[in-house]
Amino acid sequence: MLTENIVFSAVQPSNNLTIGNYIGAIKIWVDIQNIYKCIYSIADLHAITNNYYNNLKTLSLNTLALYLACDINPETNIICLQSEIVEHSQLHWILSCFVNWNKLKHMTQFKNKYSKQGSLLNKVTVGLFTYPILMASDILLYQTNYVPVGYDQKQHLEFSRKIARNFNKKYGNIFTIPQPIIPKIGKITSLLNPIRKMSKSDINSNNYISLLDKPELVIKKINNAITDSNNPPIVKYDIKNKPGISNLLNILSVLTNISIVNLEKDLNNINYIQFKKIVSNEINNTLFKIQKKYFSIRNKEKYLNSILINGNKRAKIIARNTLNKVYRVIGIK
Ligand code: AMP
Ligand code: TRP
Repeated sequence: MLTENIVFSAVQPSNNLTIGNYIGAIKIWVDIQNIYKCIYSIADLHAITNNYYNNLKTLSLNTLALYLACDINPETNIICLQSEIVEHSQLHWILSCFVNWNKLKHMTQFKNKYSKQGSLLNKVTVGLFTYPILMASDILLYQTNYVPVGYDQKQHLEFSRKIARNFNKKYGNIFTIPQPIIPKIGKITSLLNPIRKMSKSDINSNNYISLLDKPELVIKKINNAITDSNNPPIVKYDIKNKPGISNLLNILSVLTNISIVNLEKDLNNINYIQFKKIVSNEINNTLFKIQKKYFSIRNKEKYLNSILINGNKRAKIIARNTLNKVYRVIGIK
């Protein structure tokens, strides 16, 4: 049954989606799309906090086609492009003047990227620093009740909730306080460094499985994934001591819908080569369906653009309404 509760989420089109995006976000978007009123955005303005691209529109269309290929329904949900709804940038500015900069310093994602880029390239932008304010604007503009995101975004969501609460305390009931929906499995980790998050912007593509990877490449990447040197080998979930095996078990569990405990029982007595073969088979089954649909729609650009034009129009009405309320209470309007 469709409720009036609103869901909002987004992915940055910085590259094609990974199996981490699928498990941490998109699969849940699909699961809840018939229950809530869902707005799924392509966060192209967030993508440029790291880099300017010469093909961002193409990457955004790839992302849209991947949403559809993963079974996001463009008829019932609103699918929109962040940069086309100017209210995101406008609320971002207003909230930038409301949030104390000291609070932003403690955001983990900024600190991680800063320590990576700051030391190497001295390439940290103000946009990367204020990124969580733009994310809060995305969410609060739509009076969002629920935000399905991966575990890595939990802190940003907490930050959005805090802004909404403080703003409401000062100006009355302007924003709905959003709640996260976070998958139980935590995060999917990098294949060669299973302590770190799997990321589609990783410079080494062997660290992630893209939803568009060919079957042979998936087999190769999974075969090279770091495991451990337990002798005899044991397929057992133990994040601390066996992060590589635990990561592959997480992926397998979500894709097969079999609990980790049952997988451990079923996979007793097999070696890592056999285990990896099972994992890559299962990934390839999932990717086969996604890729079939993706390649049947990706070159229909007129169709893809029409989905965005329609979604942007519907999203803008809601966003404008909230922004007008904000303008009124702060005395601009
Ligand atoms: P991003 O790739 O940063 O645009 O993330 C888009 C969505 O996918 C967000 O909800 C993230 O939390 C989620 N996500 C990204 N990488 C992972 C991962 N390795 N494991 C689980 N969820 C992820
Ligand atoms: N920052 C999110 C990420 O990197 C993407 C995103 C942008 C988002 N705006 C959002 C997610 C609003 C949820 C809600 O994963």
